[in-house]
Amino acid sequence: MFSYRHAFHAGNHADVLKHLVLVAILRHLTQKPTALQVIDTHAGAGLYRLDTAQAHTSAEADDGILRLVNATNRAKAGNSIHSGSAALQDYLDLVKGFNPSGGWTVYPGSPFLIQHLLGDRDRLKVFELHPTDIKLLTGNIDQLKAGRQVAILREDGFEGLKKFLPPPSRRGLIFCDPSYELKTDYTRVVKMTTDALQRFATGTYVIWYPNIARLNAQELPRKLWNLSLRCKRPWLHCSLDVGHSSSPSAGPVTDDARPGLSASGLFVINPPYTLHAALKETLPALVRLLGRDSSARFSLDAGE
Ligand SMILES: C[S@@+](CC[C@H](N)C(=O)[O-])C[C@H]1O[C@@H](n2cnc3c(N)ncnc32)[C@H](O)[C@@H]1O
Repeated sequence: MFSYRHAFHAGNHADVLKHLVLVAILRHLTQKPTALQVIDTHAGAGLYRLDTAQAHTSAEADDGILRLVNATNRAKAGNSIHSGSAALQDYLDLVKGFNPSGGWTVYPGSPFLIQHLLGDRDRLKVFELHPTDIKLLTGNIDQLKAGRQVAILREDGFEGLKKFLPPPSRRGLIFCDPSYELKTDYTRVVKMTTDALQRFATGTYVIWYPNIARLNAQELPRKLWNLSLRCKRPWLHCSLDVGHSSSPSAGPVTDDARPGLSASGLFVINPPYTLHAALKETLPALVRLLGRDSSARFSLDAGE
């Protein structure tokens, strides 16, 4: 356990998808004045450099955020990057904001993206278990001087979530982004979400999964879909497949829990009503900008 380090994967195409969706959801949820509680069950280190040996070893950002930046830069209009999608543009502008001196060397992980979008009354709880990443996360969050707005917990996020549900304001977002390093993570995601919906049926739940040829992974969205139907909650499911890799990552990535990942998906329960339209516009743009070959594709489904 704990060989997975997100620093090897930060800014890859899966991060682009999950963070773009996260930002789009938060933009909607933070419009209301009532306090929002966000719980990030698997936080990682919070902030990543794309110019370190770790990032260069896997070069995954080259196929994700950096590829996106290069492609959209070619279509630059004025000072703004033109991507053809408002949600994509928003995500790119946000990531760029973490690089005030220019360049694209810093990549914000989910805790930083979330905290950046929260209002004064909103709260963020982040869970992380990795002994190195919890230290990095704590140091990174300390620099934000966010005070009581952000709580860091060195606990199991699947279990720890319970104690925060339902949030006092009854407004909440649960972002669940496990490494799936342990096969049991797949069943734990379903168990956690089933339990959480009983405590807090109206919360927005965002669950990321790798779209790989493993039965557990293939079954996960169907299980979450069944759960949504059973609980009579609206849902949205999207996935992005960037196609085959023409140039596999250079060098051995010894702690890579999912080598050669080309597709991933997100299952959202109680999505904001604006999300479907935003993704309908954005996912084709992602296929166009991040696709490695003609097999690149997306899927987008939603229901009540
Ligand atoms: C995919 S990474 C998270 C990336 C982060 N959500 C982001 O978007 O920037 C998954 C993280 O979960 C941590 N982790 C693994 N099992 C955990 C558990 N049961 N509870 C909390 N964190 C866990 C890993 O150490 C790893 O840092």
